[in-house]
Amino acid sequence: MKNILVTGGAGFIGSNFVRYLLEGNPDCRVINLDLLTYAGNLANLEAVQNHPRYHFVKGGICDRNLVDDLFCSYYIDTVVNFAAESHVDRSIAEPEVFLTTNIIGTQALLDIAKKYWKVHPDDKYSREFIPGVKFLQVSTDEVYGALGETGMFIETTPLAPNSPYSASKASADMIVRAYYETFGLPVNITRCSNNYGPYQFPEKLIPLMINNCQCDKSLPVYGDGRQVRDWLHVKDHCAAVYNVLAKGVAGEVYNIGGNNEKANIEIVRLILQAMGKDESLITHVQDRPGHDRRYAIDNTKITTQLGWQPSYTFEQGIAETISWYLQNSDWMKQVTSGEYCKYYDRMYTMEEKELSCQGSE
Ligand code: NAD
Ligand code: TYD
Repeated sequence: MKNILVTGGAGFIGSNFVRYLLEGNPDCRVINLDLLTYAGNLANLEAVQNHPRYHFVKGGICDRNLVDDLFCSYYIDTVVNFAAESHVDRSIAEPEVFLTTNIIGTQALLDIAKKYWKVHPDDKYSREFIPGVKFLQVSTDEVYGALGETGMFIETTPLAPNSPYSASKASADMIVRAYYETFGLPVNITRCSNNYGPYQFPEKLIPLMINNCQCDKSLPVYGDGRQVRDWLHVKDHCAAVYNVLAKGVAGEVYNIGGNNEKANIEIVRLILQAMGKDESLITHVQDRPGHDRRYAIDNTKITTQLGWQPSYTFEQGIAETISWYLQNSDWMKQVTSGEYCKYYDRMYTMEEKELSCQGSE
């Protein structure tokens, strides 16, 4: 039986992954370490909270004593590191915590994994690790920077991050790589495109627009709305991460993407249409500083070498996702109460500059 430390397992993708593991793969125990920041929510895990092979621990990945205790008590042999500050706009407003969590936190996890997994811990030249151990760093396509009208990111595309968020994720990738090159720690890095699906915090495009539509609030589209993202259903991302855990070659990076490039404005219109709302709700607001124009993922490596394929079409996935948010309005109410209102006012209302009259579409 595998003892898997999932960090950030109360967030959007982490909670989907915890459920994916417990509902799909009987041969593992899941230890979820999450600091429960604004983005972490135990309501995301109600379905598995009493599962006999699930343990939740509240705490941070920078807390070395705690992480050490967990390795010791639960015989951790696998780490899947989702824990992160994950929102670009917040990283523009307050970069420091991104560096602490995303870089220093990752390095703390790597150090403790090395300590427990190295067969000869006192021999600095030994590259021998206990068989079957693995450290999987969940990264993002944003580390590659922005593309023009054409081209796709491959695993060897040079890293050129543009936001404090993506710079912190790229730094973490570099330190993970260094632990493989220097110590031989068995690692993988996955770099996925934009996820959508249930339990995503409504600071991100899709749940924010669904929630605003539902409340008949304006839909704040940054700039001209022609920025392009590749979208992947979160369950397909979870399956891909599991595939890399099971079959990924140590030291390798795997891009994960859904071949679903969409301009933001297309997505906003699709949501409006699906929810029967009028396009007059769209408001073009001032663009995000340093806004990456286009991301696109070449997923050839993971599809050909590991046999993973996305299972959702975007049309099916987005329809299910909109229904999920409408059916789970209590969840949305809970996460948008309190602090969220202050966040929204800070990010949008105070600075919102309406550009819709300038014909920016
Ligand atoms: P999220 O913001 O929804 O969740 C992050 C989780 O990490 C939260 O539960 C939070 O409480 C926890 N956390 C934060 N700081 C912590 C700390 N110091 N110690 C322990 N837990 C901490 O993020 P998400 O969208 O689920 O993303 C998860 C991971 O996937 C991130 O590493 C992100 O960079 C990566 N990723 C996200 C996307 C996307 O579209 N959302 C795409 C590619 C990669
Ligand atoms: P987001 O969901 O924040 O993900 P990321 O920045 O990591 O790609 O944003 C997705 C796209 O949507 C991005 O181009 C910014 C844009 N966007 C808006 O136009 N308005 C919004 O209110 C938000 C949150 C995002």
